[in-house]
Amino acid sequence: MYFEQFYLGCLAHASYMLASAGEAVVVDPQRDVEIYLQAATAHGVSIRHIFETHLHADFVSGHNELAARTGAKIYIGEQAGAKFPHVAVRDGFELQVGRVRISVLETPGHTSESICLVITDEGKSPEPWAVLTGDTLFLGDVGRPDLSNRYTPAQLAGMLYDSLHNKVLRLNDRVLVYPAHGAGSLCGRNMRAERVSSIGTERMTNCALQIKSREEFVQHLTSNLPPRPEYFLQDADINRTGASALSDLPQLRPIEAIELKKLMDEGAIALDVRPGEQFAAAHVPGAINIALSGQFASWAGALLGLAASPVLIADSDNALAEARVRLARVGLENVLGYLKGGVASWSAAGLNLAAIPQIDVENLSDQMQRKAVQVLDVRREPEWEAGHIEGAVWWPLDNFKVAPPEIDRSVPVVVHCKSGYRSIIACSLLRRAGFEQVTDVIGGFDAWKQASLTVSAGNR
Ligand SMILES: [Fe+2]
Repeated sequence: MYFEQFYLGCLAHASYMLASAGEAVVVDPQRDVEIYLQAATAHGVSIRHIFETHLHADFVSGHNELAARTGAKIYIGEQAGAKFPHVAVRDGFELQVGRVRISVLETPGHTSESICLVITDEGKSPEPWAVLTGDTLFLGDVGRPDLSNRYTPAQLAGMLYDSLHNKVLRLNDRVLVYPAHGAGSLCGRNMRAERVSSIGTERMTNCALQIKSREEFVQHLTSNLPPRPEYFLQDADINRTGASALSDLPQLRPIEAIELKKLMDEGAIALDVRPGEQFAAAHVPGAINIALSGQFASWAGALLGLAASPVLIADSDNALAEARVRLARVGLENVLGYLKGGVASWSAAGLNLAAIPQIDVENLSDQMQRKAVQVLDVRREPEWEAGHIEGAVWWPLDNFKVAPPEIDRSVPVVVHCKSGYRSIIACSLLRRAGFEQVTDVIGGFDAWKQASLTVSAGNR
């Protein structure tokens, strides 16, 4: 058996391909499907089957395009109500691919249509080898239960408890666990950074699986839910219908600096995808920075929304193409164009560039002692609760559709996150919202702790 995990850091998403006797199966494909076609060619196999473990909410899946390009069948849980040609699967459905058997477990909970796929490599053993758990079971966590219009989070959390204890945990401890997401995904909370685990390890160490009472489990899962970006329900709908092929997207239009200025005066969004330090040093005034180096697509989807039609600013054609694909992966397709010639063309056209000052943590500590600044922490709640800078104001980047209410516009604001990726995004949004005195902290809270500066813990 051939088996490969494809991990997409930008979305913390894992998809899979397995093959036997020349026939391949792809599970939870990302929107750009070229990687699976290339892998199939490299291994001399044909993609015949595509499984979706559920209707993904955090990205647009490539199942339609992959099916169109290979003739493969798509399999998805019956409860999905999928509107594309598919095989609706239920508990007990089995697919034999060469010497590999794929058995479906219906595991409602994260969503009502969720399934897990138990893989048995009959060439090696009659016992199951691995389970592809989708968003039912992650490494260290389980899927969030609040992405449905049909069921309440409490109802779904109850279903998830039953699915885990009556089905997934009935598997042998040796069975490997391959989930659809890793650390940083908003489909769960506290995922570990590894990419594979086993039923035994999860049984022993996964926080959610240590809760033995159904009632407590429901309580745990429905409190302190992670932020839910608006685009999540839209992506689930796109996936229910099946997205159009990426090749159908129109070419990006080059936009001159003077035209961009006019468009921005009328409210257009300029999205600068360069690294944060470059953006801080010089950028188009009013541009939003979301660098390609981090979880770019999730942040763009969450902060701009799928209806946005941004103009991209990048420093190479490759970066522009990369940004375009990554935006399409979450369903943000209406890119208006790109700034021709990048930031240099802006100043060449006689227009002024803006900058965001950056300071190190020692400098921040001095300024705080002189009470010259207000500190804004834009990390997520669990990070804030695990420790923060005394006196800081907390407003996570996920909430930035609304400006931080406790920040005084007349006092300089210094922004930090964990290591500097999110704080520059926040600085750019604050500048765009009219905050004039905005400074970024180099290295964020990690640098603060490394310099042994005081950390206070506890709730806000
Ligand atoms: Fe999901």
